[in-house]
Amino acid sequence: MLRTHTCGELNMNYVGRDVTLSGWLQRSRDMGGLTFIDLRDRYGITQLVFNMEINPVLCEEARKLGREFVLSASGKVTERSNKNPRMTTGDIEIMVDSLTVLNVSKTPPFTIEDNTDGGEELRMKYRYLDLRRKVNKKNLELRHKMAIETRNYLNLQRFLEIETPYLIKSTPEGARDFVVPSRMNAGQFYALPQSPQTFKQLLMVAGFDRYYQIVRCFRDEDLRADRQPEFTQIDCEMAFVTQEDILNTFEGLAKHLFKSILNFDTEVFPRIPYETAIRLYGSDKPDLRFGMEFMELNEVAKGKGFRMFDDAELVAGINTQGCGEYSRKQLDELTDFVKKPQVGASALIYIRVAPDGSLKSSVDKFYSSEDLAVIALKFNAKPGDLILILAGKCNKTRSALSELRLEMGNRLGLRKPGHYKPLWVIDFPLLEWDEETNRYYAKHHPFTAPVPEDIRMIDQYLSHISDNKPVSTSLSEQNSGQIQVPVDLENVHANAYDLVINGVEIGGGSIRIHNKELQKKMLTVLGFSEEDAANQFGFLMNAFEYGAPPHGGIAFGFDRWTAIFAGADSIRDFIAFPKNNSGRDVMIDSPARIKDEQLKELGIKLVS
Ligand code: AMO
Repeated sequence: MLRTHTCGELNMNYVGRDVTLSGWLQRSRDMGGLTFIDLRDRYGITQLVFNMEINPVLCEEARKLGREFVLSASGKVTERSNKNPRMTTGDIEIMVDSLTVLNVSKTPPFTIEDNTDGGEELRMKYRYLDLRRKVNKKNLELRHKMAIETRNYLNLQRFLEIETPYLIKSTPEGARDFVVPSRMNAGQFYALPQSPQTFKQLLMVAGFDRYYQIVRCFRDEDLRADRQPEFTQIDCEMAFVTQEDILNTFEGLAKHLFKSILNFDTEVFPRIPYETAIRLYGSDKPDLRFGMEFMELNEVAKGKGFRMFDDAELVAGINTQGCGEYSRKQLDELTDFVKKPQVGASALIYIRVAPDGSLKSSVDKFYSSEDLAVIALKFNAKPGDLILILAGKCNKTRSALSELRLEMGNRLGLRKPGHYKPLWVIDFPLLEWDEETNRYYAKHHPFTAPVPEDIRMIDQYLSHISDNKPVSTSLSEQNSGQIQVPVDLENVHANAYDLVINGVEIGGGSIRIHNKELQKKMLTVLGFSEEDAANQFGFLMNAFEYGAPPHGGIAFGFDRWTAIFAGADSIRDFIAFPKNNSGRDVMIDSPARIKDEQLKELGIKLVS
């Protein structure tokens, strides 16, 4: 037998028992007459002892073993004289009487310790060694538990787990596709799915009214801490439901995960309309662990001769409680922060409320103390508070103020780890206008249904463009009166929702279009010709002609959800074999060139 127990389970109850353990040599210490080896496996670490007086040959042998050697050791469990309360096995050790070296190991390129000396790139290259570290093991265990509990909940709710294909068809919407050449159909390509969206809708047409899948998705997009080119979704779809049914069902899933994984009790999730989220937090994924809501100041800040405010589309600020004593240096740091290109503000204006209630600002030249008092009152500012104000174009100001709010949340310790504030963001716009390409894009995806009362705006717009009138709705063109637009489709609301936790978009979904005519209209709005629409999405629109039920669903970023439950920002640590920032797997050195014969077989000629 190579092992009778694991390295994580022995304690005082086993004293006197003969056991065999197998694992990796974590560390060894030579103390003259005694040699100690920490033996590690997936479950923990147990101390092995070799006694020079009792068994000098074995002890000599033990001294020669290197880090990460694979060993099997047998002996008696004994009580330690020097107990280690930090280890679950810290009360005992094994007096080894026989030892087998199952395999040798080269010295690993970094230490297999919680605080390793290995840099990120090196650890990615030797990911199988990195995964031996406790922190990574714990992350994958958490991921496993989350998958189990997700399945437990959804199975109880009568969802069926159904697999959908990975070799599908490239579509122009969304992110870029990863494509796969077909040998049997030379010159043609499959695409890897960005999500199983259309297939899960077809499963609804097929009558499987509750579907889910923990499924890999592929997107060729720029990578960030919370984005990988292949990632996993908990993908779900339901038929015969309204938005209310979906929010309730998946709030149930979220509550189940919070309770079963973190033992965290959540209150009813607030539902915040998109427009409110943007107005109060400058973001459609607000971190609600703290307040610090935006206050819009156009009415009280303009008209006092201060150009920056007078010229701005929006003047808005936040009140940072208790920061009134910030030093010049701290304020300069904040100014540098807002001026960073990623934040994008041109200046930061402040108003301090002194302990005696008097007000001091960086724009005292333009604002009397009465003027400042009016602004301070809007924030309900108290002595010791600091009001921070940005101004400029509306969207830019909101997004910069959002970054500043999060920064102040961090500085003030308001984004507490271990504390969770989930919410739904609802009533998203259906469409976004893109100035560069001069067309609408679906904010979520082209299958999301508009709210019924807004469909007439789409009809008006389509009747306008069918008369060959210009379709541009660019705000600048509208404002300059160059182009008459019948209707601004950015005002059309979608029947769509996101689940947000602590400032992270965990999931998103919608009620779908299930009517061929409406789907056709939506594709026309998105600029598809009738032919393109039929080519790309004909299969779905045809299916809608065979009794498609009303349906809707949601997909959660499984890697993101796991990371946030562990209090981490990067999803990479929760994926067994992730890609680096350039989308490479440095361990297997991929992507890589393929042989000329392979290219030839696929009918592909490289243009160098
Ligand atoms: P969406 O595109 O919003 O919706 O994706 C759903 C969730 O998937 C996660 N996610 C990612 N996680 C890691 N790396 C990525 N590159 C990445 N991209 C997205 C996010 C996101 O909220 N088919 C629709 C869902 C639906 O309508 O049912 C969809 O894919 O957490």
